[in-house]
Amino acid sequence: MMGEPAGLAILVPAAGRGSRAGAGIPKQYKKLADRPLLALTLEALLRGAPKAAILPVIQKEDRALYLACAAGIVPKLRQPLMEPAVGGATRQESVRNGLEALAKLPLPPAVVLIHDAARPFVGPALIARAADAAANFGAAVPGLAPADTIKQVDMARCVSATLPRAQLRAIQTPQAFAFGLILEAHRRAALAGAADFTDDAAVAEWAGHRVHV
Ligand code: C5P
Repeated sequence: MMGEPAGLAILVPAAGRGSRAGAGIPKQYKKLADRPLLALTLEALLRGAPKAAILPVIQKEDRALYLACAAGIVPKLRQPLMEPAVGGATRQESVRNGLEALAKLPLPPAVVLIHDAARPFVGPALIARAADAAANFGAAVPGLAPADTIKQVDMARCVSATLPRAQLRAIQTPQAFAFGLILEAHRRAALAGAADFTDDAAVAEWAGHRVHV
């Protein structure tokens, strides 16, 4: 059955410094149509999953920027926003801090979606599909078949392989997990010092789980 399950939480890592997006304030606080990206993303999630608890993860020094973001969201919608968790030095650390905050709730969620702060175009259908897939498979991520040919290159910037396109997917967020599965995977990775993961699916894969795309 599709739809918003009971016990859904959405964690929004928003503690990056946005160095790849250029100078100035972090990417998630830059404006699009006069609204900070993070406000647009949170609003899309609040509208797309009205019953979900939503947990932003922010850097301490960004608190004023964050409060301005939250204040720009219609009060009627804002209610499921939780007090933000504190971000870490890497995305992986920020997500783990958020998961630990959710684990401390009197009733931790059954399913958690993890959605990057600078992706404001998420809608209710994708949220429902992701949550549903997590409930069915334990771990699930949205993926797009690339329209371009993807090549692997070596240190000299020469092609070392042309990858078979039919087998490739560009992976996005929200990434969706049974809460216990991803909490445990992040805890184990932290204990093992495995710290190079750029998405949560990679943490789940490392912990031995099959991830549905
Ligand atoms: O830098 P990258 O594109 O991987 O960031 C993906 C997401 O993770 C962004 O929403 C960013 O704000 C977040 N992030 C974080 N804590 C960090 C680094 C990135 O929450 N230390």
